[in-house]
Amino acid sequence: MNNFDYQTPTRLIFGRDAVAGLAEVMKPIGRRVLLTYGGGSIKRIGLYDRVKDLMKDFELFELPGIEPNPKYTTSVLDGVRICKEHDIEVILSVGGGSVLDCSKAIAAGAVYDGEPWDLITGKVPTRGALPIVDIITLAATGSEYDCGGVISRTETNDKVAYIDRHLFPVCSFLDPTYTFTVNAKHTAAGVADAINHVMEQYFTAPTNSVSDGFCETLIKTLMKYAPKAIETPDDYEARAEIMYACTFGCNGLLALGTGNTVWQMHGIEHALSAYYDITHGEGLAIITPHWMRYILSDRTVGRFVKFGTNVLGISPDEAPYAIAEKSISGMYAFFKSLGMPMTLREVGIDDKRLEEMAHHIAVNEGLDTGAYVPLGEQDILAILKAAL
Ligand code: NZQ
Ligand code: ZN
Repeated sequence: MNNFDYQTPTRLIFGRDAVAGLAEVMKPIGRRVLLTYGGGSIKRIGLYDRVKDLMKDFELFELPGIEPNPKYTTSVLDGVRICKEHDIEVILSVGGGSVLDCSKAIAAGAVYDGEPWDLITGKVPTRGALPIVDIITLAATGSEYDCGGVISRTETNDKVAYIDRHLFPVCSFLDPTYTFTVNAKHTAAGVADAINHVMEQYFTAPTNSVSDGFCETLIKTLMKYAPKAIETPDDYEARAEIMYACTFGCNGLLALGTGNTVWQMHGIEHALSAYYDITHGEGLAIITPHWMRYILSDRTVGRFVKFGTNVLGISPDEAPYAIAEKSISGMYAFFKSLGMPMTLREVGIDDKRLEEMAHHIAVNEGLDTGAYVPLGEQDILAILKAAL
């Protein structure tokens, strides 16, 4: 087992009407608040009015309209400007992962005098950020419990993962009832995203049985409850299990003591979203089976055997490669059963820019260095072609 050093400073408040304590949590942090949200879902579910009511003793400023795959030149820069103009003390992010990711970039940009893009890309070290509190309304990214955010810059086809320990939220409120209104498409995409987060960390070496156990339990939970949540959107137990499981995707817990995790499927998917603005979880569902097949070899087949038997319940008596093949087809069948698109063409991506994207990914994502199975430009291109 590898050494590790781990801390997640975020407070989680989970359950029905968790937000009742919002004002109490906010009071010691600051009075001048920037409320950030997306395209209107929080108004439709009544959460906007609830937050305004709970926050009536605070001075509220607003940044509405944060897009899925949040954009730098609009949302991030607007937010930074508002924070600086109004001496904002704390950001209250209400919405999905996109709103929270954007809020994290704003929080850092607000206390920095230069161009925030330099922080996002790591050109300049992040030395601080405004405190962030969030109410997460879509179970998927785990952004509520991690210190990352993913920001897109359309004009350069960049989608960059910005990770820095200053970006952990101070407190995250998770009320599964707020996810009842997430439609089937985004419920499935959220589950696919969370499953993929776990897989990115499971397929590595060395591993340990504690991490494997966490990972296997999370994927089994997500696979069990996703169909229930899609069939019965207000099934509290299903939504709660999914929300709880998603929370641990990206905060490092699953990779304690294990080998390097290069997050290759994410590296590939970020380019798909950057070039074509597709839904993150859908891109991942499309890439997953092809990535699995590409990394399968005599060296890696043992991991597939553990995955197939412990997660998908495939008989350990079968031959290792048979278990691996069934694991790949099992993941494909599961995503398809949720109604997800399973080819790039279904999400509007044809073969015109595959080479360009493979090059962009190879140059910007570093999927070869330190990876479980290194992927160079031609490998990435082969995976993209297989996914067409
Ligand atoms: O904009 P609004 O109107 O709020 O609608 C959103 C949006 O259209 C809607 N929605 C959110 N909560 C809802 C709801 N609709 C009905 N009821 C609710 N309660 O859902 C749509 C998608 O929202 P979005 O926030 O984009 O989804 P998600 O949470 O999946 O976030 C995706 C973004 O997170 C990044 C992705 O790349 C993508 O940009 N990621 C962030 C990570 C992180 N911070 O750790 C890790 C992930 O791997 C991922 O890369
Ligand atoms: Zn993801």
